Amino acid sequence: MKILGIETSCDETGAAIVEDGTKILSNIVTSSQELHIKSGGIIPEVAAREQIRCIIPVIEESIKNTKEIDAVAVTVGPGLIGSLLVGVETGKTLAYLWNKPIIPINHLLAHVYANWLQTSNSQFLIPNFPAIVLIASGGHTELVLIETHGKFKWLGGTRDDAAGEAFDKIARLLGLGYPGGPAIAAAAAHITHNPSPITKLPRPMIDSDDFDFSFSGLKTAVLREIKKLKAHNPELITSLAYETQEAIADVLVEKTIRAAKIYKVKSILLAGGVAANQRLREKIKLQIENLKLKINLFIPPPSLCTDNAACVASCAYFNYKPLSWQKIKATPSLSIEEIV
Ligand code: KG4
Ligand code: ZN
Repeated sequence: MKILGIETSCDETGAAIVEDGTKILSNIVTSSQELHIKSGGIIPEVAAREQIRCIIPVIEESIKNTKEIDAVAVTVGPGLIGSLLVGVETGKTLAYLWNKPIIPINHLLAHVYANWLQTSNSQFLIPNFPAIVLIASGGHTELVLIETHGKFKWLGGTRDDAAGEAFDKIARLLGLGYPGGPAIAAAAAHITHNPSPITKLPRPMIDSDDFDFSFSGLKTAVLREIKKLKAHNPELITSLAYETQEAIADVLVEKTIRAAKIYKVKSILLAGGVAANQRLREKIKLQIENLKLKINLFIPPPSLCTDNAACVASCAYFNYKPLSWQKIKATPSLSIEEIV
């Protein structure tokens, strides 16, 4: 079965064709990120206009080598209303014109399915259940137990800022630009340990007896350190970037592994833009090895961690619930509960 996926929840415009949920036949992504760099964050109006400009060429490019598709899948939320509407209304129009089923997709669940996409011709493993997934994106940090496709249990999430949001806000404080995750990772890459005498940043809620997160205190702690020195000195910036990355990765790894142990899972999956973080990837791998856990770790390649439509199409294949196009609506505040 070939599904056309459409993703327009934020500043990426994506269209992809995936066969049987795993084989990527095309995956086109364009981003308006460059336009947001100057403002240090996304301007929804600008993102929506770019979605309108890009959606048709991106879809055309994605379908140019495919004769027939079987269904359309589209991200309906969560996301920015102006951006979502572009993908949703285009997807509905195409499904109507082509007389094909259309499947509405929750963006957070779509991120999870990047782990089912085949990325090389070498041995291809798919996650075995039960699995724990950490979904860490710009607006969400969620831990979910997956018993099987369609059977999810939400374990916890952030009480304030998401991990990606913390990266983005701290990067802005440090004058490192947008998006914050890659900017902090690049600054932190200048050192392999923290040479500066700054206080270690906190690891918020790392020992709490639940699966919740809280990252807003980190931002305050960074601000306090900057104010102490009263000036932006390059060594302090590097050091704070390094510590921010270490602190966020430590908390994410600790809570994910704890959930995996408690629920005795066979796989751990990472998903969402923050999963592209190299240090997080290294740390979780190392921790699984150190603890000698018999758990398979799945991490998509960085390009499939960030927003794309291939994972939307894969998600639709494994959670195939078509709706009539009249019932499909962009839902900016769609929550994780609507999939669990
Ligand atoms: O999943 P995503 O592409 O979009 C949303 O659905 O939000 O995630 C975007 C988030 C941003 O906060 C960005 O700073 C973060 O993912 N991110 C990273 C990296 N690449 C993107 N965070 C840390 N390290 C990275 N390499
Ligand atoms: Zn996303």
